[in-house]
Amino acid sequence: MISTKQNDKNYVASTYARFDLEITRGKGSLVYDSEGREYIDLSSGIATNTFGMCDSEWTEAVTRQLSLFQHTSNLYYSEPCATLARMLSERTGAKKVFFSNSGAEANECAIKVARKWARENKPEGHNTIITLKNSFHGRTVTTLSATGQDTFHTDFHPFTEGFVYAEANNSQALVELVKSTPCCAIMVELVQGEGGVMALDGEFVDTVKALAREHELLIIVDEVQTGNGRCGSLYAYMQYGLTPDVVTTAKGLGGGLPIGATMMFDRVEGTLTPGSHGSTFGGNPVSCAAAISVLKRIDDTLLADVRRKSEYIKKALTGAKGIKSVSGLGLMLGIETERDAGEIIRECMELGVLPIKAKHKVRLLPALNIPDELLQRAIDVIKTVAAR
Ligand SMILES: Cc1ncc(COP(=O)(O)O)c(C=O)c1O
Repeated sequence: MISTKQNDKNYVASTYARFDLEITRGKGSLVYDSEGREYIDLSSGIATNTFGMCDSEWTEAVTRQLSLFQHTSNLYYSEPCATLARMLSERTGAKKVFFSNSGAEANECAIKVARKWARENKPEGHNTIITLKNSFHGRTVTTLSATGQDTFHTDFHPFTEGFVYAEANNSQALVELVKSTPCCAIMVELVQGEGGVMALDGEFVDTVKALAREHELLIIVDEVQTGNGRCGSLYAYMQYGLTPDVVTTAKGLGGGLPIGATMMFDRVEGTLTPGSHGSTFGGNPVSCAAAISVLKRIDDTLLADVRRKSEYIKKALTGAKGIKSVSGLGLMLGIETERDAGEIIRECMELGVLPIKAKHKVRLLPALNIPDELLQRAIDVIKTVAAR
């Protein structure tokens, strides 16, 4: 029989540099490979399996909905979609929510909202969106344009126009860019995930707020990776005293099923009108049931626990041999190591621990409910490997 790895190599588009590891099952923060080896999962499907693998409450919510109906078109009402929108609105103050299937789509929607809002509210031509250098907003042609990294702008011309890039944490440069650009919005990740787990400074975010107020710009916060408890608050913007106009999220919201959400606050609540946007699978009842079960469990107790675990990791690793720095918020952390991060990750894997990479850092995105005992074991392995 041809192996999974061989079938994958033969037939799956070669867009991923996969590790030599086939995951066959998992429970909580433990996953198992095709040879039955056990690993502590420190990336949870890139910030997606919020409560780990096959969490019983999540599985129960998903299977209950599956036995009722798996999908209906957006021509009809469905309870999970409406309930999830209400829950998100009550927890954030958003006035309307558009559901899609991924982070990139959530951002596409946000960009469309900003452009339509600009057409209706700004002088002609003021439709540029300022994003940050080193950001990551997705893989569609437009979200690649929004992504402020040259490496993503080489292969797929022509790209969508109307994006300029400001240096993160450089307030003066942002002020100048806003003054010289006919813009309508500033779009940020509060912790740049793919860009190397870099949190924005409070002072820089204050500048974003002030400029948005002064120049009547929308603030779009991409919480695809930072959201849904990951950073120790329901959404990271809540730690920055920010009042956004649009918040996008995906990844951890579904706890392992695909869903994207674009939350629209007061100023843009009426921007999307019938026919202006849509999605066949957006608001899928099974994904929404999964998200409802995830959101219900992101309470103050869980969030305090995320912050406690974050502190534990930072304390354990800061100043340890072979470790230069630890960055990030909550359970979205980047470790700068003296040795090459790729080597550290490979050696951790050999010892049964699965972190991933972000630029030159080792990135940790464990399930929010990872048991202390597993977390400690995994951190000890990282320390041992980094010290070699
Ligand atoms: C901040 C951010 N935005 C957007 C995306 C794209 O999300 P998706 O892969 O679900 O389209 C990602 C994915 O890593 C992300 O981290």
